[in-house]
Amino acid sequence: MTVSLPHGGTLMNRFDDSVDYSGISESIELDKTSLSDLELIANGAYSPLTGFLGKEDYSSVVQEMRLSDGHVWSLPITLPVTREVASSLSEGQSVLLKFQGVTYGILKLQEIYTPDQQTEAIQVYKTSDQAHPGVKKIFERGDTYLGGPITLVRSPEKDQFSTYYLHPAETRETFAKKGWKKVVGFQTRNPVHRAHEYIQKSALEIVDGLFLNPLVGETKADDIPADVRMESYQVLLENYYPKDRVFLAVFPAAMRYAGPREAIFHALVRKNYGCTHFIVGRDHAGVGDYYGTYEAQEIFEQFSEEDLGITPLFFEHSFYCKKCENMASTKTCPHELKDRVILSGTKVRELLRNGETPPPEFSRPEVVQVLIDGMKVSV
Ligand code: ADX
Repeated sequence: MTVSLPHGGTLMNRFDDSVDYSGISESIELDKTSLSDLELIANGAYSPLTGFLGKEDYSSVVQEMRLSDGHVWSLPITLPVTREVASSLSEGQSVLLKFQGVTYGILKLQEIYTPDQQTEAIQVYKTSDQAHPGVKKIFERGDTYLGGPITLVRSPEKDQFSTYYLHPAETRETFAKKGWKKVVGFQTRNPVHRAHEYIQKSALEIVDGLFLNPLVGETKADDIPADVRMESYQVLLENYYPKDRVFLAVFPAAMRYAGPREAIFHALVRKNYGCTHFIVGRDHAGVGDYYGTYEAQEIFEQFSEEDLGITPLFFEHSFYCKKCENMASTKTCPHELKDRVILSGTKVRELLRNGETPPPEFSRPEVVQVLIDGMKVSV
C-alpha cells in the first residue's frame, strides 16, 4: 500500500460491463469531454464522485470549492445538454450515454437543472470572457445539466499508447510494488522541456518516485498533439531519467485552463492515482494572462493539508542561466534577465512549425527532434 488515501477515503469503481441495458430507450450523445469525465469518474480518478454533479453539489463546488458533504472539489464535473435534449428526458429515468452512437455508460438521471453559467465562468475561471477556452466551452456545451450516478459499461477505445492508460488502482499497485512511499505527481500538457525536467528532478531529490502523468484529453488546437508529446516523453525518459525512479502513464482528461482551480483539481486527482506530493510551478494550467504567475500556488493556502491529503510542491519560474551554466530560478540565480534562456510556449511552437530548433538550453535535442518530426505530420 502507498501512504496516500484516495480523496474521500474510498477509490470508486463504477465499471460494470455485465449490465443488461437493452431495456433502456432514452439516450444522449456525449462530447469528448463528457466521455473522458465518464471514464474518469468510473475508474476512480475523480473519487469521491460517483456521477455527474447534481444541483446542490454543483452550486457548492462553484461557490465554495467543496462538494455539499464538505470534501474539497474545485471544478464542476457536469453533464451539459441542450434544452431541447433535456426536454425529452425526465428525472428518475435511466439514460444511455453514447459517443458516436456507441453506448459507453448509463446515467441514473436524478436531476435536470439550469445552471447559472455566467456565475460558473466567473467563479471557476475568474472571467466571463469567451476568448478564454474554458469559458467558451461552458457556453458552447449546453445550458442544461444532467446530474446523477453513472455506470461505465464499455471502456473507451485507446490509441497507440494503450499501455499507458492505467486506472488509479493500477498506478497505486505499481507504486506499492516499486516500494515508493513518497510519489510526486507531475501534470503537463506540453513536451517536457528543461525547466520541467529541472523541477521534476528537484522534487525527485526528496521523494521516492516521479509519476509523469501528461494530460492527453482534449486541449486547445494550438497545443502540441498528445501522440507527439508521448513520443517526446519516451525519448526523454530513455535518455535522461533513472528508469527505476519514474513512471509514465496518461491522464485522459480534458484540459480546462482554469489555472488555480484546476491546480487543486489536478492535485486531488493525482492523490487518487496514489501520489503523496504534487508539483505546481509557474502559471499552472493557465492560459493567456488570465491568472497571476503564482496564483495556482496561492490558492492552496485556502485549504489545510488534511483537507487536501496531498502535499503541493511549489516551484518558481525556472530557466537556464548562461552565467550560472545551469538550470535555476530567481531563488537560486543572481543574474540578469539577459543571461537567462526563456522562451514562451507560443514562440517554441512557432520555431518547431518552421522546422527550427529551440536551443539545447531550453529543450533536449532528442526531444526537439521528435517534436519537429511530429509537427511536420500534424501541422
Ligand atoms: S499545464 O497547463 O499542464 O500546467 P505545462 O505542461 O507547461 O502546463 O506545465 C506543467 C507543470 O510545470 C505546471 O506545474 C507548471 O506550473 C510547471 N511549469 C511549466 N513551465 C515552468 C517553468 N519554466 N518554471 C517553473 N514551472 C514551470
